Amino acid sequence: MTQVTYELRNNIAVLQLSSPPVNSLGLSMRQAIMSNFQKALADENVDAIVLASSGSIFCGGADISEFDGDLAFASPNLSELCDFVEGTNKLVIAAINGMALGGGCELTLACDYRIADKKAKIGLPEVQLGILPGAGGTQRMPRLAGAPLALEMISSGKPVAAQKLLEAKAIDRLALEDEALLEAAVNYAEELVADDAPLRNCADMAVDISDLPEDYFFEFRRKTSARTQGFYAPEQCIQAVEAACALPLAEGIAFEANLFRDCMETPQARAQQHLFFSERAATKIPGIQSKTLIRPINRVAVIGSGTMGGGIAMNFINAGIETVVLDLNAEALERGIATIRRNYEISAKKGRFTQAQVDSCLSLLKSTTEYSDISDVDLVIEAVFERMDIKQQVFKTLDEVCKPGAILATNTSTLDVNEIAAVTSRPEAVVGTHFFSPANVMRLLEIVRAEKTADDVLMTTIKLAQKIKKVPVVSGVCWGFIGNRMIEPYGRETARLILEGASPAQIDQALTDFGLAMGFPSMADLAGIDVSYLIRQENAEACYPRDPHYAAILDKLYELGRYGQKSGRGFYIYEGRDKREDPEVMTLAADLANELGIKQRAITDQEIVERTMYVLINEGAQILDEGIAYRSGDIDIVYCNGYGFPIFKGGPMQFADEIGLDKILAALNGYRQSLGDYGEEWFKPAPLLERLVEQNKSFKDYQ
Ligand code: 3HC
Repeated sequence: MTQVTYELRNNIAVLQLSSPPVNSLGLSMRQAIMSNFQKALADENVDAIVLASSGSIFCGGADISEFDGDLAFASPNLSELCDFVEGTNKLVIAAINGMALGGGCELTLACDYRIADKKAKIGLPEVQLGILPGAGGTQRMPRLAGAPLALEMISSGKPVAAQKLLEAKAIDRLALEDEALLEAAVNYAEELVADDAPLRNCADMAVDISDLPEDYFFEFRRKTSARTQGFYAPEQCIQAVEAACALPLAEGIAFEANLFRDCMETPQARAQQHLFFSERAATKIPGIQSKTLIRPINRVAVIGSGTMGGGIAMNFINAGIETVVLDLNAEALERGIATIRRNYEISAKKGRFTQAQVDSCLSLLKSTTEYSDISDVDLVIEAVFERMDIKQQVFKTLDEVCKPGAILATNTSTLDVNEIAAVTSRPEAVVGTHFFSPANVMRLLEIVRAEKTADDVLMTTIKLAQKIKKVPVVSGVCWGFIGNRMIEPYGRETARLILEGASPAQIDQALTDFGLAMGFPSMADLAGIDVSYLIRQENAEACYPRDPHYAAILDKLYELGRYGQKSGRGFYIYEGRDKREDPEVMTLAADLANELGIKQRAITDQEIVERTMYVLINEGAQILDEGIAYRSGDIDIVYCNGYGFPIFKGGPMQFADEIGLDKILAALNGYRQSLGDYGEEWFKPAPLLERLVEQNKSFKDYQ
C-alpha cells in the first residue's frame, strides 16, 4: 500500500502522508518519505516540496509499536530522516492539519517553513510515554519557539494550538478561514519560491537565552516537582532543553539521542507505553464487532441528586448533552442542583470555564421530581443509595416509564447487575456504570457487562464514556467488579500488617515511596472507616469471612467511633488540615495481636510493599482467570485511573510482569509458609499465576 503519495503541481512537489489512522512513522513510512523526497530533489522542475497529509491529522509521531524491538532505530531512523529533510537544498514547507505529535511534530520542525490549519494542535507528548523527543525536537523546538514554551511543551507533553506557535514564530502562517490547507500550502510554496526565500536550518540558529533568568531551569524544576515526582523522563526533558541552550545543534542532537536511548530502556517507558496501548485495547470487546451500530444518545436522565448523581450529570452537560436530574425529594433536588451550579461558579472563578461555557452547560441542565418527565430519554443512569432493594425498585419504575430502546444504567460499585436487570422486562437494556468519586473529575469508568446486556448497549456505553472524556474499562459481574474486588485483599493485608507491628504511618510511607497516591490507612480515613465497615457487614456472606483476624483493627476503630477524617480520628488524628500519628492505634493493635495470638515484630518496608501489592496482583490474576477482566491491561487501566496506582509502574499487572511472575509466585509462597495459618489461608497463589509461571509467560501474554 502506498504510504506517501507524490504529485506535481507546477513547480511544487506535494508529498502526502497517507497511512491511516494516524500516519505513524514506522520504518516503511520513513523509507517512503525518504524516497519521495529523493524523487523530488532529483527532479529539476521541482523548486519546492510541500509535506502534507491526506488524512484527518498530519501525523501521530513515531510508531510506538516499534519501540519494543530494534525497528525504531533501523535506518533511516526518525532522527536521520529529520536531519535529511533539514539538509535538503530545496525549500520544504510543512502543511499541518489536525495534529502533529511527537516525531510528526519533529518532522515539521526540520522543514524550512510551516503553515498550519487554524484548528491544528502541535505537541511533543513523548514524556507521557516515559521518553523524550528523540528526533531533534528538544533541540529544534527551543530554537524556533523559544526555551520557555519548548520546555513547557516537552516536559508536560501537552499539545498547544497552532496559533500559539504562530505567535512564538515557530509557525509561519495559518491557513485562512475556509481555505483548504493544501491549496494554501502550495500557494505559500509558490510565493516563497517567487520571493527567493532562504532555506532555513536550525544549525544556524541559537536559542535566545537573553531573557532567561539565571535560575530559570532550577525554578522550573522546583515548580514542576510535584507533578513529576517519581517519573524519570521529565528530568531528561529538562536536561535536553538546557543542552539546547548551550550546545550547537549537532552536539545537542547527540546529547538528546543518548538521553532518548537511556529512557527507552527504562521500566517506566515500558509501563507508560503499555498504558497507551491498554487504554485503546480496553474499548475493544472480544466477540463484538467494533463497527456495531451504536444507539444515539441525545438526552440523558440521572436518578438521584446527591454528590454522585450531580457529578455524573455534570459529565453529560459538559459534553453538550441535555440532562435531567430526577429526585423524588424536592428539597434534596433543589440542594443538588444548587451544588452543581456552585461547582460551575467555582470553576469559572478558577478560570477552568468561561462564563459563556458555564451558561451553555447550565442551559442543558434540567430537573424534575416526576418519572413521567424522563419517558423520552435515551439513557438513564440510576445513582441512588447502594442497596439492592432500593435500586431494584428504581429499575421496576424505569422499566415502566422509559421508552423502548432506552439504555438503563446502574451506578453501582459492588452490587450484582444481573439481579438488578432481572426485575425489568428488558435485561438486555441494562448495564452497570461505576463512576468514581468525584464523578466529574475522575477519569475512570468501569462499565459492567451483565449476562444479558446487549452488544450494542455495551458498545454505546463505551463510546459515550469516551464522549464524556472518561477512560472506559469493561468488567464482568462479581462483587466489587475489577477495582473494588482487588482493593479488598489489599486492605485486609494492611490491617493485618498493623496487627503484626507496622504503624499506619510506616505503611503509608512505604506505599507512597512505592508511588501510590496514598497508602491504605490514609485512604481508609478519607473514604470513611464506617463505610468500609458497613460494606464488610453487608457483604459478609458473599466475600468476607467470619474470621476474628480479618480486618480486626478496622472493626476496632469503627467500634470506637473513629471513622477517619470525618470524625477527626481514625488511623490518624486530624486537626483542621493537619494530621498526626496516633500512638493509641498501636496500643489497640498490640492488644488485638495479644488476644489473637499474633506475635508482633519489626516489619520492613519491603515486606509491606510485597505483601500488599502481591495479594493485589494475585487477586488480579484470579479476576483474569474468571474472565471478569478481558486483559491484564484492563486491570492496569482501572488501577492507574481510579486507584492512584503510579502510572510510571504501568498498573499492578504490568508491574508484576516487569518483576517476573516467577518472583511474585515465589514471594507469595514464601509468605504462605512464614505466616503460618494466616499465610496458608490468604497467600495461596492464583492458579493462573502458577500456570503462567509453568509456561514461562507473563500476564501480557494471557488474552
Ligand atoms: N504509534 C503507533 N500506533 C498509534 C500511534 C503511534 N504513534 N498513535 C496512534 N496509534 C494507533 C492507536 O493505538 C490506535 O490503534 P487501534 O485502532 O489499533 O487501537 C489507532 O492508532 C488510533 O488511535 P486513537 O484511538 O488514539 O485515535 P484518536 O483519533 O483518538 O487519537 C492521536 C489520535 C491524538 C494521534 C492519538 O492516537 C495519540 O495521542 N497518539 C500518540 C501520540 C504520541 O504519543 N506520539 C509520540 C510518539 S513517540 C515519538 O514520536 C518518538 C519520537 O520523538 C522519536
